[in-house]
Formats: sequence, C-alpha cells, structure tokens
Amino acid sequence: MVILGIETSCDETAAAVIKDGSELLSNVVASSADLHAAYGGVVPEIAARSHVETILPVIDKAVGEAYTSDPWQKIDAIAVTHGPGLAGSLLVGVMTAKSLALAKNKPLYAVNHVKAHVEAAFLTKTALPGYSLSKKQPHFPLLALIVSGGHTLLAQFSDHQNYKVLGQTTDDAVGEAFDKVAKMLGLPYPGGPSLAALALKGDPQSVKLPTVKVGKYSFSFSGLKTAVLRASQKMVGQDYTFPSTKLPKALNGAQKANIAASFQQKAVIILADSLKAAVEEYQPSSVVVAGGVAANLKLRQVIDSQIPLPVFFPDVKLCTDNAAMVAQEGYFQIKSGLTGVDPPSLDVIPNLSM
Ligand code: KG4
Ligand code: ZN
Repeated sequence: MVILGIETSCDETAAAVIKDGSELLSNVVASSADLHAAYGGVVPEIAARSHVETILPVIDKAVGEAYTSDPWQKIDAIAVTHGPGLAGSLLVGVMTAKSLALAKNKPLYAVNHVKAHVEAAFLTKTALPGYSLSKKQPHFPLLALIVSGGHTLLAQFSDHQNYKVLGQTTDDAVGEAFDKVAKMLGLPYPGGPSLAALALKGDPQSVKLPTVKVGKYSFSFSGLKTAVLRASQKMVGQDYTFPSTKLPKALNGAQKANIAASFQQKAVIILADSLKAAVEEYQPSSVVVAGGVAANLKLRQVIDSQIPLPVFFPDVKLCTDNAAMVAQEGYFQIKSGLTGVDPPSLDVIPNLSM
C-alpha cells in the first residue's frame, strides 16, 4: 500500500511517498528557514506564502521520485497534517491535499503532526542515498519521548492508535529553549543545530544551572532558559537589567561555547532522567525518541547510555519536520481500520493536542 504524505505545519513544505508502512520511496523537504533567518524566528505570513509557492513542485517531485511512470495510479491514499501548527501554513497543505484527493479520487487521512513524529521510527527500508534506518521496527508497548520546537512530551503507546500522554512541558518546548538560548548567544537561526555545534567546543560543567522539575513526567524549560540568561549576565559583570540583545557582543567565544555546552548538557539530562524513570515504571518493549531535538547527538549518546533497552531514533532527516512521518501515520490509520475523512469537511486545527 502506497501513501503520499503532505506536511506544511511550520516552515517546511514537505511531501513524501512511503510503501507498506516501512519503505521510504521519496522524501522531499523545502524549508523557508533562510527567509526567516533575518528575523530570528519563523514569520507566519512568510511561511504561508512560501508554502503556496512551493507545495505543488514539492509534491510533483516526491511522486516523480517514487515512481517514474504513472505515479498517481500507484498511490492508494493521501495523508496530510491538519494540526497542530501555524493556521496559515496548515491551510496550504490541507487545501492542496483536499483538492488532490478529489481530483485523483484517493481517500484522505488527517494526521496529528506531533504523533506522526513517532511513526518515522517505523521506516526500515529505502533505496534513497544518505539514510541510516534501523533494520527492525519498534515493538509495542512502546514509550515515546517527543522533543521538537513546539512540543516536549512522554507518551506510552499500546499500539499505533492507542496511547496515553504521561507528561509534557508546562511552558517552553525543549527545541524552543535551544532556539532562544542560541539567540541570546547571537547564533544563526535555526538555533538548535548551531548551539549543538558550538557546544562541542565548550565545557559542559563550567556554568552551574538548576535542574527544574515540575512533576514526575512534566517538563519546564522556561526557567532553565532564564537561568542561562542570569548566568550570562553575571559572566559579563552585569545584573538582570542587562538586555539579552547585548549579550552576543559582550560575551567572548569561549564563554559562549561554555554556556552552550552547559545548557545542552542540562537540557539533555532533564529529558534522559524523565525517560529513564518512565522506562523503569512502565517497562516498555521499546523506546522511540523523535522530533527535531532527537537529531541532537548529545541527547542520543546520553539516552543510549542510560536506557537498558533498544532505543529507536529516526534518521536525522526524519527527526526534523518531514512528510514521510505523515504518510506513515496515514498508513497505520488504514491498517487500524480507520476510515478516511470527507475531503470537503476537513479543516485545520492549529491547537490540536495529542
Ligand atoms: O520537529 P521539528 O522540526 O519542528 C517542530 O515540530 O517543532 O523541530 C524543530 C526544533 C527546533 O527548535 C530546532 O532548533 C530543534 O528542533 N533542533 C535541534 C537540533 N536540530 C533541530 N535541537 C538541538 N540539537 C539539534 N541538533
Ligand atoms: Zn515537528
């Protein structure tokens, strides 16, 4: 069974084709990140306009790379992200998917973006170059740690469609904290990867930061971000009134690297400790760590060393936003016997929760 996935929830315009819930046939991602870089974060209007310009070429490329002849004949269904995300961005993907479902006469499946991140871990085969996929699929019951720019949560899945959220962030998502600390250090957007690169040059023990705990499996990253700000102000001999916008010039290179390394270390330990406690309590058969921050190598190392179970991390290109995970979720909805949605009635849900 072949599924076309479409994803436009934030600043990535993506389309992908997957087969039988395990094989990646194509994965096309066009990011408008460079257009947002000048503003230090995603500008919703720019993201939406960019989706409008790119969506059809991206879909054409994805179906054409999957099958050179008659691709639409081989596609059995379309899956699209309908939330959570930016309303204007989601609308472009949903309107396109609805139109294609009607024009090509294909069933349509509506996908929760956050949950879809987990399904990326079930891809085990591809002929595409540059992917490192696990040879086996995760087993249920599984514990998932979803870490992205908009979400940080732990969930227990008894199968693809039945799950319980054990806890989530009460304020900032961990990716958001990476992005904000990166901005404080004057690093280029998107901040997560730039901060991770700088952290390699710093000492993770050099800046003392608090471990913020708000509940057994809940997270809080806003306090950690503020603690980084206070430590940085102190490092340059200033108090809390010193504006964060002046920090990039006031801090030297070694100080920035130490702050980056110490923040990353603390954020990773907070995530790994909660995951370890949940593994001990729920005794899952496997663990999946997914979402943009799962691309972080330090997080991968620490979790691998602490969890006495197979931990599935999707390939780095399938951690950050993509449509392969959306197609996967569509496939597993079909396999679970769920019927698709009526295209004209499908709407976006920007604040869709798990
Ligand atoms: O899943 P994703 O692409 O989008 C959302 O659904 O939010 O996650 C994006 C987030 C951003 O905050 C980005 O800075 C972070 O993932 N990120 C990283 C790394 N790569 C991406 N954070 C830390 N280390 C990385 N290597
Ligand atoms: Zn995402």
